[in-house]
Amino acid sequence: MFRKTWRWVGQFRRSNKNIGIHWPFIPEHLKLLCDDISYQLSHNTYELDEIAVRFHYRLVVIHPFANGNGRHARLITDEFLISLKKQHFLGASGRKRMYIEPLECGKNI
Ligand SMILES: Nc1ncnc2c1ncn2[C@@H]1O[C@H](COP(=O)(O)OP(=O)(O)O)[C@@H](O)[C@H]1O
Ligand SMILES: [Mg+2]
Repeated sequence: MFRKTWRWVGQFRRSNKNIGIHWPFIPEHLKLLCDDISYQLSHNTYELDEIAVRFHYRLVVIHPFANGNGRHARLITDEFLISLKKQHFLGASGRKRMYIEPLECGKNI
């Protein structure tokens, strides 16, 4: 994912997909997401697990890359929780059905 798997590695997508926000807004929405998560952490807006779930969901909704967004969102959320709680993201076990259903039911959070 981070090396030579894809020529465009590390670059945001430049076309729309059937999931994900309109592509020119990706950088702006990632900044908003990071600012929101930072605020939620410093103000204890939600339990840490809920902040992580919201973070994961919004990353998937933004869908920054042409491919690998599911893997990216789980990996980054895993790192996020490990850095704060020394605990893995529940959905990161590779069992896709455990997280895809809640994603489909989600609203914009
Ligand atoms: N119907 C759906 N509702 C919500 N999220 C979805 C849906 N279908 C796919 N996704 C999200 O998009 C990801 C697939 O996007 P993709 O960029 O191909 O990632 P990957 O290549 O890592 O699987 C899924 O893992 C999931 O996170
Ligand atoms: Mg894919």
